[in-house]
Formats: sequence, C-alpha cells, structure tokens
Amino acid sequence: MWLQTSLLYLFLFLVLLSSSPLLAVDLVAASPLEAQKSALLQWKGTLQNPEILNSWNPIVFPCNWSGVACNLRQRAIKRINLYDKGLIGSINTLNFSALTSLRQLDLSFNQLRGAIPHSIGSLSSLIFLALAGNQISGSIPYSIGNLSSLSTLSLPE
Ligand SMILES: *[C@@H]1O[C@H](CO)[C@@H](O)[C@H](O)[C@H]1NC(C)=O
Ligand SMILES: *[C@@H]1O[C@H](CO)[C@@H](O)[C@H](O)[C@H]1NC(C)=O
Ligand SMILES: *[C@@H]1O[C@H](CO)[C@@H](O)[C@H](O)[C@H]1NC(C)=O
Repeated sequence: MWLQTSLLYLFLFLVLLSSSPLLAVDLVAASPLEAQKSALLQWKGTLQNPEILNSWNPIVFPCNWSGVACNLRQRAIKRINLYDKGLIGSINTLNFSALTSLRQLDLSFNQLRGAIPHSIGSLSSLIFLALAGNQISGSIPYSIGNLSSLSTLSLPE
C-alpha cells in the first residue's frame, strides 16, 4: 500500500514537472534557435513589404521558414537565402549578434539600404556572404576581418 501511494506521488510529481509552463518557457528561452527566430521576426517587421516572408510566422517552426535552413539537430540556423526576393528595407536592422551560427547568408538582389553594421563581425562561422545588388552605403566595417572562415564575399559595387 505504502509503495503504491509513493509511486502515485512520484507519478504526479513527474506529470507536474513535465507540464509546468514555467519550465517549458525557460527551456525555449534558453535555446539559440529561439533568439534567432525573434531576431529574424524583428527584422521582418522593419521591412516595407514583410508579406513576402509570409512563412516567417511565429507559429511556424523557424527551420521550416522559406529561405531558412538549420543544422542537423535543428537547434540553430545555418543558412539564410533570400536571393532576389524583392525585399525592401534596411540591412542594419538585422541583429547579427543573434545569428552567430550562420554559415551562409545571401541577401543579394533585393532593395536593402543602409550601412553594413559593425555587428556583422559576430558571424564568426560565416563561409558565404552575398550582399550584391542592393543599395548598401557607407564603408565596409573593419569587423568583417573577424570572419575568418569566409571564402566567398560579394558586395555591392
Ligand atoms: C517542418 O515541415 C515538415 C515538412 O512539411 C514537417 O514534416 C515538420 O513536421 C515540420 N516541423 C515542425 C517542427 O513543424
Ligand atoms: C541581439 O541579439 C542578442 C543575442 O540574442 C541579444 O542579446 C540582443 O539583445 C539583441 N539586440 C537587440 C537590439 O534586440
Ligand atoms: C569576433 O568573433 C569573436 C568570436 O569568434 C567574437 O567574440 C567577437 O565579438 C567578434 N568581434 C567583432 C568585432 O564582432
């Protein structure tokens, strides 16, 4: 009898633990994917035509967004390809500090304005960066020298 009761308590404890909303929120907030998701949604919100990225929706898993690919375990975004999507907006509203796992970033042939932010230097895993065909202004930040894995770089003329 005693054993059955304590097993019952153990069971209830585990059910409570796994269904606790506070615990779930904590786990989600701690994952880099969640920070990446919110950085991309924030940037989408600054575009003049955000409807182009309609799959970039908070209720859709970000690894399933169009132009977005994640690593094998789907814990971080590895690739963003928005080549020639007709996006109108700026580049400096994208929070690069949240995207340190990125290996490929292709934003070429859109209508993105503004200067390349200094924080681009935080993309230390970046191999491929394409920004050509936009109205990007200002000088290239020296932090781009931090991208030590970079092998392909295309910048606006
Ligand atoms: C992502 O999309 C695939 C294919 O449509 C689907 O099978 C999968 O369940 C989706 N993943 C999540 C976590 O929604
Ligand atoms: C950018 O992302 C980093 C890392 O997730 C975060 O700490 C920071 O608050 C973000 N900055 C802005 C302006 O949202
Ligand atoms: C350069 O990359 C390192 C990580 O490799 C990072 O800690 C640092 O903040 C980056 N510096 C700049 C200027 O972005």
